[in-house]
Amino acid sequence: MKQVTRDNREWFQDWANEYDNTLGKVKRHHKLLDLVVREAGIQRNDQVLDIGCGTGLLSLKFLNETDCRITAIDSSSEMLRIFQEKIDKFNLTGKIHCAQQSAEDMDFRPDQFDIIASTVALHHVKFKEPVIKKIYDSLKDGGRFVIGEIDMDTTGRLDDPQRLTRILKYLTGELALAMREGGVPAFERMYDNGKKHILNDGEYCIGFDQWKDLCTNAGFKNIEISPLKGFESFKVLAATKLQGGEMRSDEIFSLSRL
Ligand SMILES: C[S@@+](CC[C@H](N)C(=O)[O-])C[C@H]1O[C@@H](n2cnc3c(N)ncnc32)[C@H](O)[C@@H]1O
Repeated sequence: MKQVTRDNREWFQDWANEYDNTLGKVKRHHKLLDLVVREAGIQRNDQVLDIGCGTGLLSLKFLNETDCRITAIDSSSEMLRIFQEKIDKFNLTGKIHCAQQSAEDMDFRPDQFDIIASTVALHHVKFKEPVIKKIYDSLKDGGRFVIGEIDMDTTGRLDDPQRLTRILKYLTGELALAMREGGVPAFERMYDNGKKHILNDGEYCIGFDQWKDLCTNAGFKNIEISPLKGFESFKVLAATKLQGGEMRSDEIFSLSRL
């Protein structure tokens, strides 16, 4: 995990025990994960990769949707320990394989997965372009890449007051929601998370236009962005790997007549 900063990893190690009682209590987070599962269009026996799986909330939703095989990676051993306890408890060892690995160091073989998904994790990756390219390579032809993220651009100089105002605008609603649904512990953690976004030099959140550009540059087609109803600053992007190229609507029409 050479490329994940020590600070970042330690911060998540520290959060792991409280994760399900803080962000895991926020209904908006579950709605985001549900939208990711829906947009992924998962089918029975699909091979799924969950990047930055944390305590497994997204992976478990995929399995709840249909029988599939999941590889789940995260750079935090503590997050994975909690996920592994759930896997053991629900007897899911044959269906989910967890590994401690950072997104930057992924080395899956080409054309391995039907779906690669990630929720509120990839914004922590400093150099996003090579990671998106690896994701493209690891997908099968026709495979789907789906992310659920906050549509927030934190790029720019740390001492720029306009940047600060822009970030605070997003965080206000998020902090009120955390307080309402998870109480003081959730607020405290999300407040700390927000401060990390403001002062962290390098691990930038980006807006969905930027995510879309990254996906286009990696070769993805049919890129669609869906806002989370009622929480417009959270969105889901779904993109498809189509090695034969994008189908024109007349081609889809003639196929449907076969
Ligand atoms: C906010 S949590 C999201 C967990 C889960 N995906 C969810 O939606 O509940 C972010 C997760 O990403 C992991 N993470 C952060 N940077 C990472 C990286 N570079 N590679 C892999 N995992 C990373 C953290 O350890 C943490 O578990």
